[in-house]
Amino acid sequence: MRAMLLTGFGDVSNFELGELPRPEPGPGQVLVRVAAASVNPVDVKIRQLAPAFAPKLPAVLGLDFAGLVEEVGEGVTAYAPGDEVYGCAGGVGQRQGALAELMPADVRFLARKPRALDFRSAAALPLVAITAWDALHGKARVQAGEHALIQGGAGGVGHVAVQLAKAAGLAVAATVSSPAKADIARSLGADEIINYREEEPAAYVQRLTGGAGFDLAFDTVGGASLEASIAAVRPRGRVVSTNTRSTHDLSLLHAKALSLHVVFMLLPLVSAVGEPDYAPILREVAALADAGRLTPLLDERAFSLARAAEAHALVESGKAVGKVVVDVV
Ligand SMILES: NC(=O)c1ccc[n+]([C@@H]2O[C@H](COP(=O)([O-])OP(=O)(O)OC[C@H]3O[C@@H](n4cnc5c(N)ncnc54)[C@H](OP(=O)(O)O)[C@@H]3O)[C@@H](O)[C@H]2O)c1
Repeated sequence: MRAMLLTGFGDVSNFELGELPRPEPGPGQVLVRVAAASVNPVDVKIRQLAPAFAPKLPAVLGLDFAGLVEEVGEGVTAYAPGDEVYGCAGGVGQRQGALAELMPADVRFLARKPRALDFRSAAALPLVAITAWDALHGKARVQAGEHALIQGGAGGVGHVAVQLAKAAGLAVAATVSSPAKADIARSLGADEIINYREEEPAAYVQRLTGGAGFDLAFDTVGGASLEASIAAVRPRGRVVSTNTRSTHDLSLLHAKALSLHVVFMLLPLVSAVGEPDYAPILREVAALADAGRLTPLLDERAFSLARAAEAHALVESGKAVGKVVVDVV
């Protein structure tokens, strides 16, 4: 099979199109003929920084995929060849990734593709939707009627979080950096827009909550944005973060008796047994997509498997608008 191989950690020149033997699905796995894969910031971090959970070289990266079941492994009864699936199942640790024509994937980490979405759109969703779902439902346990602040409301995780929060009945304020991104967040359902470059937390907390603070903040950015999130929630509120690899003074967290939650969605893929599966979340996400309540935003540029390095470079540049997808076949 054709595969995009990473031959060294560092810049995108380390990608090389090559051939690998056809993989076999192991017990509890299906072999997926990958139609599309999306590139997330974590794929870029793995390629650049070789974190502890990076695969051994030469490696096939790519967490997110959508495609067709080609073959089922031992013990798999829920899927059959020809089924359309999507998921987030490899490109880390010992697991082969999605930048290849065929990918063995644990059924724990995939579900049936939303019927309403084509393969490209379906491949854009798994990692960001699992992250946003875990943040809002798993960690913050949101309730209809609550007022949420979503930092990075037009980003990969943020634009899905806005839609999931609206589907759960929340009022949503989203931070963005430009009028164009404000339009995106508004079109996805955000009720209120904050340009984080122009308005400080104290000002928007006053403008949007009368100074009381948001019930919860979902920070998809980290750093100063995490501090803004802590400042923006009400006493006893919740803050959920995707990025806490940083040093912060937690005095305000203490003074307001806040809870701080961290999402690290890769854990089930990189740790031993006992971590929850993605499949139940992916089924919920597919149902919302099929109901027309969740639509991924895709960057308009298209990349073939041979041009996956350019897709990585685009994500790395921070200039993508929406998710970046690679058409694998
Ligand atoms: N821990 C986990 O499980 C997990 C899961 C998924 C993602 N992540 C991490 O979460 C981060 C976001 O991922 P993503 O896929 O959403 O990336 P993305 O598509 O690049 O989006 C990042 C967003 O952050 C916004 N932003 C940047 N600086 C900001 C600030 N100071 N205040 C508010 N918004 C700001 C950007 O908006 P503008 O372009 O308008 O500035 C952009 O929309 C990445 O670091 C990723 O690695 C972690």
